[in-house]
Amino acid sequence: MDATFFNGTMKRALKNAENKTTDMAADVLSIPLDYYRNEGLKVKEREQIMLNTPLPLISSAEIAQPNDFMVRDLFGKSVLLVRGGDGVARAFENYCRHRGAMPASGCGNRRLFSCPYHAWTYDSSGQLVNLPGSEGFPECDQKNLGLLELTSQEFGGLLWVNLTPGTELNLHAFLGDKLSEHLSAWGLEKAKHIETREFEVEINWKAAIENFGETYHFQTVHGQSIPSQINIQNTSTHEAFGLHHFMLFSLKTIVELRDVPEDQWDWTKGVIPVYWIYPGTIIVAPPGVTQIIETLPRYDGGREATQIRSTFLTFEDRNDPLGLELTDAVMNASWEAVYDEDRPLLEKLGQAVRNSSQEHLIIGRNEIGVQHIAKTIAGQLGYDLQA
Ligand code: FES
Ligand SMILES: [Fe+2]
Repeated sequence: MDATFFNGTMKRALKNAENKTTDMAADVLSIPLDYYRNEGLKVKEREQIMLNTPLPLISSAEIAQPNDFMVRDLFGKSVLLVRGGDGVARAFENYCRHRGAMPASGCGNRRLFSCPYHAWTYDSSGQLVNLPGSEGFPECDQKNLGLLELTSQEFGGLLWVNLTPGTELNLHAFLGDKLSEHLSAWGLEKAKHIETREFEVEINWKAAIENFGETYHFQTVHGQSIPSQINIQNTSTHEAFGLHHFMLFSLKTIVELRDVPEDQWDWTKGVIPVYWIYPGTIIVAPPGVTQIIETLPRYDGGREATQIRSTFLTFEDRNDPLGLELTDAVMNASWEAVYDEDRPLLEKLGQAVRNSSQEHLIIGRNEIGVQHIAKTIAGQLGYDLQA
């Protein structure tokens, strides 16, 4: 990433810092609690959003080698993400074409996936390569009985998957020019995977993702930790990228750029870039580490839960002691802010979202990123926030 890549937005971020202000939405937004509670809306969002949007379900770095794979459980579907022997990353429904058992489990490196029920065996490009007792299936053509493939495309170091088979992905149209350009500039396909950590929290996912759209809570929730030590709180510089958005969270050191010619600006000294990729992905890039935070619902009977999953990538050399120390420190600080500080807060907020008797939540003009998230999701679902 070119050190001056964010200069255009950084100029505004610097102005915001100098004027001790932030980008503001036009108005205060009231969000009816019904937006988080409405059961009909949950059915609609599962069908229309979760099962029908290109979701970046794994980083390329996690399945870097041929035959690397991971099984994920998403919205009640088991999904196999696997790099074939030909180097192409693909996604499949992880259900055997015989009677539906799951041929793959966990993660690792395998050339073949043998179904635990009757040993039909698939290779890492999803083809059925062994059908024991094939005389019992005289009319079945093995060639047509590969695992059901989901539409997917590897781009920007991520494997984007639409969980409904047979759909078109249209990834570039979905991302738009700006986000495509940014993802290309990051070059995450060259990054290395450090690790992935996850937890579940009892809160509606739409309320959970909003947590990553503002720095207004940094002073209070993260008052004793890194975010409030390095960032200017309650300020962000916001750009809507169509459905998605891009924000700069300013570092306290941004004001030092005043005395540096613009062509020598180094964004790592002034800001932390934060993306929201509709519907549930946040990409944050503090120095040394890129963190992909997936915030997606668990549809689990009556239980209202969100899975928050952080994947940490790096361009640093972790064989070098300094690189190892830097990346571990940044990764652990980022994780602690989310796990130790945001998580307990979100748990309590989840209760209010489910049970409070108040009718609305109020989103300030300063919470411009939160407003964009809520307005976009509501808009896509045809839900009127003003009703
Ligand atoms: S269900 Fe997989 S082999 Fe029978
Ligand atoms: Fe936070």
